Amino acid sequence: MSHHAPSSFVPAADGVDPLLVPKKTLASGAKIPVIGLGTFGSDHITGDQVAAAVLDAAALGYRHFDCASVYGNEDKIGHSLRKILEGGVKRDDLWITSKLWNDKHDEADVIPSAKKSLADLQLDYLDLYLVHWPFPNFHPPGCDVNFHDPNAKPYIHESFMKTWRQLEKLVELGLVKHIGTSNMTIPKLKLVLRDAAIKPVCNEMELHPHFQQPELFKFVVDNGLVPIGYSPVGSPARPERDRTPDDTVDIEDPVIVKIAARLNVHPAVVCVKWAAQRGQIPIPFSVTRRNYLANLQSVVGAPLTEEEMAAIAGIDRGCRLIKGQVFCWKDNQNWEDLWDLNGEITPA
Ligand SMILES: NC(=O)c1ccc[n+]([C@@H]2O[C@H](COP(=O)([O-])OP(=O)(O)OC[C@H]3O[C@@H](n4cnc5c(N)ncnc54)[C@H](OP(=O)(O)O)[C@@H]3O)[C@@H](O)[C@H]2O)c1
Repeated sequence: MSHHAPSSFVPAADGVDPLLVPKKTLASGAKIPVIGLGTFGSDHITGDQVAAAVLDAAALGYRHFDCASVYGNEDKIGHSLRKILEGGVKRDDLWITSKLWNDKHDEADVIPSAKKSLADLQLDYLDLYLVHWPFPNFHPPGCDVNFHDPNAKPYIHESFMKTWRQLEKLVELGLVKHIGTSNMTIPKLKLVLRDAAIKPVCNEMELHPHFQQPELFKFVVDNGLVPIGYSPVGSPARPERDRTPDDTVDIEDPVIVKIAARLNVHPAVVCVKWAAQRGQIPIPFSVTRRNYLANLQSVVGAPLTEEEMAAIAGIDRGCRLIKGQVFCWKDNQNWEDLWDLNGEITPA
């Protein structure tokens, strides 16, 4: 292990009592903490750094961690989870999510892929397993925005359900407690909800003040799913491939900045606090102690005022940051095709 490897788990005096962190009840009755720590190092934060943050965040009171095989750090995070459990946190009190990557949608690949994540994370079960994206393709980690997989596929519902049946099998095997979707749209979710034997309990989706997705958010909630909001701070350190000149910056929005000044916090904290108060579960990434502590504290402090909530509702710019362009299935295709903007699944 490198010298960055985390040491041991000791609850921190300046942390938040995990019992005070609110939870949301899923359709199954299970309870999920209303904030989680993101673990995608955006190609520049090492696995050791993320693993150290996971261990320290748990010491500060985090119990929910959003992982994925494609983040390439589950083996490092596994060492931290083992220390957290050895340090006295009960497995029941942790919420660990992982995700099936796009190149593992084939029926034969799903269960082995989940087992690999379990082995890396040093766990017997996952609380939540998501299909990371609804598009099968091969996309090497860190690849350029212009990378195009000639075998990339559009959403084909029959194929997705074959993948989903394997996720259902993971539940039957006891390897996974809940299953869910990510990066879905209303028309895709409608079909999955119609055909799933075991329904998704969560949909993980991009959500921040400049990208509130009100229709999808409402659809998800109305159908009894809990929205998990990724890039809650507007992903200020996202990889170059995920940046375009039109992108807006949530943490520079005057409405957010003004509330941050009132609360004497960084604007990022306002984004996280707003998210939890609106009803999605934010999973902010951070490897900076004062930042991940402030994010956690934000969900237990006094709420934003109704006026502040209304003001933030008014700054939605419809600005999607994680466009997914590398997942297009045709040459010279617009990334908007991935998101079914006219309410129907974009034809192949
Ligand atoms: N399902 C999916 O397809 C999908 C896609 C994207 C992301 N995700 C998940 O969502 C997580 C979060 O999204 P993200 O990593 O894209 O972006 P994000 O959480 O919106 O932004 C993270 C960045 O914000 C900074 N930050 C966080 N809290 C802060 C605070 N209180 N004050 C100042 N700066 C702060 C962090 O810097 P410091 O480290 O210095 O604090 C980091 O650079 C990911 O890690 C991943 O787990 C899922």
